[in-house]
Amino acid sequence: MALYSDKVMDHFRNPRNLGKLDDADGIGEVGNAKCGDIMRMYIKVDDGIITDVKFNTFGCGSAIATSSMATELIKGKPVEEALELSNKAVVEALDGLPTHKIHCSVLAEEAVRAAVKDYYDKNGIAYDPEMFKEKDDPHEAGCEV
Ligand code: FES
Repeated sequence: MALYSDKVMDHFRNPRNLGKLDDADGIGEVGNAKCGDIMRMYIKVDDGIITDVKFNTFGCGSAIATSSMATELIKGKPVEEALELSNKAVVEALDGLPTHKIHCSVLAEEAVRAAVKDYYDKNGIAYDPEMFKEKDDPHEAGCEV
């Protein structure tokens, strides 16, 4: 069996929504000092709906594929729904990732959440800070670059 699914390879080779939004309403940047991967997510929000999203990453192939899929999953959705996007849902939508690459999908999830938080902050929208509490560093458990 191939290490990576066809969907992972497709999103890695042809990433969706790659780039930058100059008029973004929220920008989330997350990174990991250990593997050096950095992810930046831009969202455009209209009436509570994510109307556009783009991402940039200096990261591994799995980080590219998971971010690409994450952007597809949140585009056109309410921001609250984007907040609920889990790395597990992204991995499932990609038909899986090798175990030692699962942590890469967390980077995409965190970038989406950081972009929504930035949107809330910039627009004075109240939220429960608990929603954005840092998770344990997923890279601690076996980031193999
Ligand atoms: Fe892919 Fe760390 S995010 S190797």
